[in-house]
Amino acid sequence: MDQTEKEALDEIVRILEQWSGCPFSHFKKGTLIRRIKRRLILTRKPTFSIYLDYLKMYPVEFQHLFDSLTIKVSSFFRDPEVFEAVEHGVLPLLFNRIKKTGRGQLRTWSVASAKGEEAYSMGILLCEFMKNNAWARDIPVSVIGSDIDSTAVRTARRGIYKREDLAIALTRYPQYFKRIVVEKDELYEVHPALKKIVSFLTFDCTNPEFKSPPGGVFAEYDIILLRNVLIYYDNEIKERIFKRVFECLKPMGFLILGKSEVMPKHMEKYFKTFSRGHKIYLRGDSSP
Ligand SMILES: C[S@@+](CC[C@H](N)C(=O)[O-])C[C@H]1O[C@@H](n2cnc3c(N)ncnc32)[C@H](O)[C@@H]1O
Repeated sequence: MDQTEKEALDEIVRILEQWSGCPFSHFKKGTLIRRIKRRLILTRKPTFSIYLDYLKMYPVEFQHLFDSLTIKVSSFFRDPEVFEAVEHGVLPLLFNRIKKTGRGQLRTWSVASAKGEEAYSMGILLCEFMKNNAWARDIPVSVIGSDIDSTAVRTARRGIYKREDLAIALTRYPQYFKRIVVEKDELYEVHPALKKIVSFLTFDCTNPEFKSPPGGVFAEYDIILLRNVLIYYDNEIKERIFKRVFECLKPMGFLILGKSEVMPKHMEKYFKTFSRGHKIYLRGDSSP
């Protein structure tokens, strides 16, 4: 890449960062270039410089570029074995712990919730646990899903999905979805009882100002799902997120990472491994 192209690429990243507030300059270089090049191909622009001019002339392209970089691929019960470990290992422990102390609520945070699939999946498991264990029914539960993309957050709040998006959720837990037909499309809406415990907000987990979890100053979480988002960022951002997430977990709270996500080496001493295979960790006592 010659100097002009390098400068054009840096400028694209700089103005996109300014437009979106998302720290794309901390994205892994390879992913960043690959994704921008995709937009070059789709808009038939042969160079970064020409694409930069196009971007400035047609600001609507910012949204397309942003969408291309923030990949919203997700699904209900993605990696089902992880959710099974949560259902049979994590939830019984947490509900019992809260019951014993006689106070507190069970709070879950899905840090990069995309269109809501992960947060609603967790909500279903919580509802199912309470349905099957009468003693746990008086424990208040909540799930917060947050994402940097406000359009994805709006979709999550609506909670309307195509049959194929729901995958195993629809066959295993049909009672949580209501079939609706919109202009010949077969869609499914999340049941109001599930919507009641799952809420969404727009939130950038890399923001250096982020000092408290999105639930409020006093919110501390029992479970934090940090899945398939760290993979896009460089080590500096990863460490920042880990430190903050640590602070937002209750002592002995659970952190669940994505399959291809790795905990920074120096953070390992602050967590205990609950299930290495499922990437489930427990917050330890000492803090970084
Ligand atoms: C591949 S999806 C992961 C969804 C879900 N956690 C899962 O594992 O299926 C990645 C999501 O991370 C979001 N994201 C990227 N950077 C983010 C940031 N700085 N703060 C919050 N969300 C972010 C994207 O908008 C996208 O919805």
